[in-house]
Amino acid sequence: MSVTTPVRTRVTDLLGVRYPIVQAPMGWIARAQLASAVSNAGGLGIIETSSGELDAVREEIRKMRDLTDNPFGVNIAQLFVRDPAIVEFVVDQGVRFVTTSAGDPRKYTSQLKEAGLTVFHVVPTLAAAMKAVDAGVDGLVVEGGEGGGFKNPQDVSTMVLLPLVASRLGVPIIAAGGITDGASMAAAFALGAEGVQMGTRMVSAAESPVHDNWKNAIVAAAETDTVFLNRFSRPGLRALRTERSTMLERQDHVDMSEFGRAMDLYFGGDLEAAIALSGQVVGRIDAVLPVQQIIDETMAAFVETCGRLGRVVATP
Ligand SMILES: Cc1cc2nc3c(=O)[nH]c(=O)nc-3n(C[C@H](O)[C@H](O)[C@H](O)COP(=O)(O)O)c2cc1C
Repeated sequence: MSVTTPVRTRVTDLLGVRYPIVQAPMGWIARAQLASAVSNAGGLGIIETSSGELDAVREEIRKMRDLTDNPFGVNIAQLFVRDPAIVEFVVDQGVRFVTTSAGDPRKYTSQLKEAGLTVFHVVPTLAAAMKAVDAGVDGLVVEGGEGGGFKNPQDVSTMVLLPLVASRLGVPIIAAGGITDGASMAAAFALGAEGVQMGTRMVSAAESPVHDNWKNAIVAAAETDTVFLNRFSRPGLRALRTERSTMLERQDHVDMSEFGRAMDLYFGGDLEAAIALSGQVVGRIDAVLPVQQIIDETMAAFVETCGRLGRVVATP
């Protein structure tokens, strides 16, 4: 049961959710078990397609319909699209909301919009944000460089990027990168967001399907325990600091073959088998918690923080 009064923003209106909290799409992780927990807790669960396993994804979407009556979305991570019919695939699943990421927003936006979907594109710079708005998206996921996952090598922090984009463009914004609780959510709203997306925090959640070794490593990590790979190459990546990633950090180019044994890491718990994509916010995550608790506590602290800031301003 959700405890906090619903919040109303353009993002909650577009997504049809109680709370403007979105669970990040993440290859193999953002599947029905995690996404349904988020949607049932009042946020928006998102199903990934970056694994490229579209038959499995179709089954996960079917499971979502059994597990929740609430809205959920799908992500198209363009870098990983192998099937040229990905748009038809997403449209056929009957979802209403899609985020597109890691690619040119002109590629799929009009096709998705013509099919009646709401489209948000993920952007790491102001220039990318302007291009996405020109392409006709409904909104943006503005993603700072402190977040986990695939990154623009010229990373810009949420603190700088978010108010910059918000000051130049009027579309609704979901902030991503470094958001884990009510205080960071309130900060994102102060900087112009109307919703937030959590990645690393959701990797660590009780319902996340990854091995406990990864969750426990997030809990144990300090804020300095991520590495940025491919600073002068592509794709940029932010990942948990391990022996392997610390060695890779110094390489000019980290090849995608480093993900070859990803399943041994994700589900086998061997943190040295591949690269554990995670953001700097690992330093602020202290426990493995159920999604419902994460969302309830985030919303309670968000409301408390906004109220406290209002009182500070009102004090003579
Ligand atoms: C393990 C992992 C996998 C990710 N995979 C994707 C993906 O497939 N598509 C995408 O748009 N973003 C992906 N991301 C980025 C997230 O969507 C999100 O924007 C980011 O994690 C936000 O920063 P945070 O980790 O500080 O919450 C991934 C992030 C992580 C941690």
